[in-house]
Amino acid sequence: MGFAWTGKNVLVTGGASCIASTLVDTLIGRGVHIRAVDNLSSGSLANIKAHLNKQSFQFIEGDLKEGTVCRDAMKDIDIVFHLAADHGGRAYVDRCQSGPAANLLLDGVVFREAAKARVKKVVFASSGCVYPNQIQTDVNEKLYLKEEMVGPPYNADNMYGWAKLMGELTLKAYCKEFGLKGASCRYFIVYGPRAKEDLSIMAMIAKAFIRQDPFEVWGDGEQLRNWTYVQDIVDGTILAAEKIDDGTAINIGTTERLRVIDAVQMITEHFNYKPQIAKKLDMPIGPVNRIADNSLAAKLLGWKPQFTLKEGLKPTIDWYRINKKVEEVKKLIDSGGLLNPQTSRQDKEKISV
Ligand SMILES: NC(=O)c1ccc[n+]([C@@H]2O[C@H](COP(=O)([O-])OP(=O)(O)OC[C@H]3O[C@@H](n4cnc5c(N)ncnc54)[C@H](O)[C@@H]3O)[C@@H](O)[C@H]2O)c1
Repeated sequence: MGFAWTGKNVLVTGGASCIASTLVDTLIGRGVHIRAVDNLSSGSLANIKAHLNKQSFQFIEGDLKEGTVCRDAMKDIDIVFHLAADHGGRAYVDRCQSGPAANLLLDGVVFREAAKARVKKVVFASSGCVYPNQIQTDVNEKLYLKEEMVGPPYNADNMYGWAKLMGELTLKAYCKEFGLKGASCRYFIVYGPRAKEDLSIMAMIAKAFIRQDPFEVWGDGEQLRNWTYVQDIVDGTILAAEKIDDGTAINIGTTERLRVIDAVQMITEHFNYKPQIAKKLDMPIGPVNRIADNSLAAKLLGWKPQFTLKEGLKPTIDWYRINKKVEEVKKLIDSGGLLNPQTSRQDKEKISV
């Protein structure tokens, strides 16, 4: 018999983000009562507007780093999907350290209040950024990152990766020591409707949408990535809630081995143009070989991605064309929007020392 979602009370933290709002859509379709909490530092109410007047949906605007906000959010909750985070694309991961450091606090408060409220399960949105940097340096190696490669000596990707790693380890400790049930899902770069332009695929779509020529590629474009469609991410996350109890961390990512330049080509083809390529060698590129192994997800969850990048690009670009205006995207790009404009905003606003 399948997992009985109907009537469950679920908290989705960061519920107004791209991934979390897609999770909300999917869970509401399964008869779940949802409480979404978001401080709207990067999330948007537009992403959840379809649910705002529903009986089965409650939205609370608040900062989950605040103990009282978090405590109230946990009341009568069966399952927590913890997706709230200070987060951004590659420029953010490389250049901003205080913002993701706040995730150490955020995750700590969320796990602690969840355990105190005796929620049945916590699923944590982790990241491919937990993998050790030193094993991802050779583009010629046929490397697939397996879950057990994260271990001592740890070497995560900047503060963002370290905070996600600490989140995983904290959740695991709570499972062991307090009997909390939990799972961590390591997402590999996500794209799809509602995703923001500071993440790689969406940045490329934005540039192609305004027909940028020459087309700016960060680095030489040889970096290897696997990009994963948002609905696949959500389906894997829900399966993790159903099937993992002991805090195990699991990759949710495709095994496609694509170069950044391959993605650029696919995207510009969608927009029917062939721009010159301008390699921006001074821009941050991150590890050059980051591809998931997803055999553990297949084994434990029965999960397999349903979308190749080629397949996921179509609904993503369709959404982008309907929802964006060329002039506004031009403005966003000209004003440095692909570098993550809201960098550490929440901390800058609050810390006035
Ligand atoms: N998008 C990706 O490629 C990717 C990859 C790996 C992991 N993740 C993780 O998945 C999760 C969702 O990411 P996303 O890409 O959908 O968008 P996102 O980064 O916009 O999501 C974070 C959400 O949390 C909210 N938030 C931040 N701090 C908060 C706080 N203190 N209290 C309440 N709400 C807060 C933001 O407003 C936003 O809606 C994040 O945890 C992110 O780290 C995303």
